[in-house]
Amino acid sequence: MCAGVHAAVDMAMRHTDAYCLHGIVHNELVIKELESRGCRFVEDIEDVPDGATVIFSAHGVAPGVRARAEEKHLEIVDATCPFVAKSHRAVRDFCVRGIPVVVIGDPEHAEVKGLLGEITDRRAPVKGERIGVVCQTTMNADEVRERVRELQRDYVVDGVVEVCNATKERQDAVRAFDGDALLVLGSRNSNNTRKLCEIAKCRVFAAGNMEEVLKLRGEISRYEKIGVTSGASTPEEFFKGAVACLKRTPRHVAFIMDGNGRWAAKRGKKRGFGHIAGAKTLMRVVRWCGERGIQYVTVYAFSTENWRRPADEVAGLMRLFAAMLKSQAASLVKEKVRLRVIGRRGDLPEKLRRGIEDLERRTAGFDRQLVVCFSYGGRAEIVDAVNRAIEIGEKVTEASFGRLLYAPDIPDPDLVVRTSGERRISNFLLWESAYAEYHFTDVLWPDFSEGDLDAALADYASRNRRIGGVK
Ligand code: FPP
Repeated sequence: MCAGVHAAVDMAMRHTDAYCLHGIVHNELVIKELESRGCRFVEDIEDVPDGATVIFSAHGVAPGVRARAEEKHLEIVDATCPFVAKSHRAVRDFCVRGIPVVVIGDPEHAEVKGLLGEITDRRAPVKGERIGVVCQTTMNADEVRERVRELQRDYVVDGVVEVCNATKERQDAVRAFDGDALLVLGSRNSNNTRKLCEIAKCRVFAAGNMEEVLKLRGEISRYEKIGVTSGASTPEEFFKGAVACLKRTPRHVAFIMDGNGRWAAKRGKKRGFGHIAGAKTLMRVVRWCGERGIQYVTVYAFSTENWRRPADEVAGLMRLFAAMLKSQAASLVKEKVRLRVIGRRGDLPEKLRRGIEDLERRTAGFDRQLVVCFSYGGRAEIVDAVNRAIEIGEKVTEASFGRLLYAPDIPDPDLVVRTSGERRISNFLLWESAYAEYHFTDVLWPDFSEGDLDAALADYASRNRRIGGVK
């Protein structure tokens, strides 16, 4: 974020009971965050109740609006960007000196409306006359220079207030970028973000939030050299998340959640206690993976071999899964995570099957996915696929066989993490993990932390993935 935006957002965060006149900055994530904290956004000063607190957005307001706020006895929090305030002073100064002002910008933009409101004498300048030029701070700097040159043909340009430095520096960086594709982060209604898209000389992708980045990731990753930039009002957290998402972050991470029983035993508790703690870790891991731009998380929750465990443990795991489907439904929907369960579903109790189907339906439209392997075995999956191939009566290839597996549309896991110190594959994703990297940690699954996840991701990023080739 540029300094002006930063200061404006900070002010709004400190006055969340206020009415903000116009979006504090043109960024959907910032607005959503402020709205969730209680801030109300209005477009007309008349919509602010008398005596309330009003925030003037970073784009500034016309003097008439300020006067009206005073008449309505509003407490004013002025978050106008200092560079915009400087442009207002320049317009006033030209007006005092009787010099006509030309404002270069989008007449529908809040900043330009504010600047135009400062002009006391709206007459058009005559040829050869001295004029002042002020531009919207977020214009394309090259375009402004061109417009000024045009004006100089007919008028004597007395002084020019150009685009702000933060805008100019970003634009210069984009002009200088010689990569294959550029991802521009920011909202559609942000003028400076749109200008970055226009200026770029390579293929441009634009995204306003993480969901959009995730959707574009596959397409972007086909390019060799990718740049990332953002509009001046884009939150840093979103920027970092998007960069991490595009860097050597695996798209699909699978977990063998091992060690629940030992974790419980260490505390003198029954194994079921460890599974409940493990379930909580699972939901945290799903969130952390989402924050790191990992689109697919697959977990080994109950294997075809686990049916051999004591009956009370098996029943406990069935109950735990059913309870999770209920307790986690709202958070999966809120975080836009699609649930998929793979394995021999026919083995599961009817009620559990219905619960699974219901949540799968409710989350079917989301891009991020949590794949739970339940009554799952890698060999069973291959055998089931072979039987289907026989039913269809087709000789298979690797590609056509892959399409007969439980979730053929999901890309193979890039990384498989196994906790609890065991170094085995244990019949997990046998076909799909042919080229996966493995990361083993001694940490027991219930203790698996955000730091442990980052260590696994760093280990993955350090591997040289040749996939049979030479690099
Ligand atoms: C292996 O640890 C873990 C399991 C067989 C169950 C994993 C299940 C959860 C984490 C619960 C949440 C998930 C769902 C969807 C129900 P272990 O019990 O074999 O541990 P040990 O090796 O220490 O005995």
